[in-house]
Amino acid sequence: MEPDIGIAKKKREAVADALVQTLSDTYALYQKTHLYHWNVEGPRFGPLHLLFETQYNELWAAIDLIAERVRALGVYAPSHADMAKRTTISSDNDPAPSADAMLKALLTSACSVISAPTSSRVTAPSYITSTRSQQPMSSS
Ligand SMILES: [Fe+2]
Repeated sequence: MEPDIGIAKKKREAVADALVQTLSDTYALYQKTHLYHWNVEGPRFGPLHLLFETQYNELWAAIDLIAERVRALGVYAPSHADMAKRTTISSDNDPAPSADAMLKALLTSACSVISAPTSSRVTAPSYITSTRSQQPMSSS
């Protein structure tokens, strides 16, 4: 169904396409974070396992918001396969790198998501945008 929101179809599709890119990258970051939650080992297992859980839950919530914004623009959300093709986040060849390597990979990936031109404070996870919870959604 075509939404009647006062934006021409071509412009809605262009915005949706940009959101799908953010969705694809955020979904890839979610998957990486959840994988590390499962596989982290070592003396910092407890705090890192919990940190990664907090982060993947935030990412999951962001993914849902982004996908529903795509739908509100009259465009279907992409399949997992489509998101895997579009993401700019590198996949994990090693599912269980060292804890330090996990942290570095997550930081690099998170910075990539938030530095993308289509990203925003609303769609980025709050652990990398500390002001997110202090800002109303409409201010982004
Ligand atoms: Fe778990």
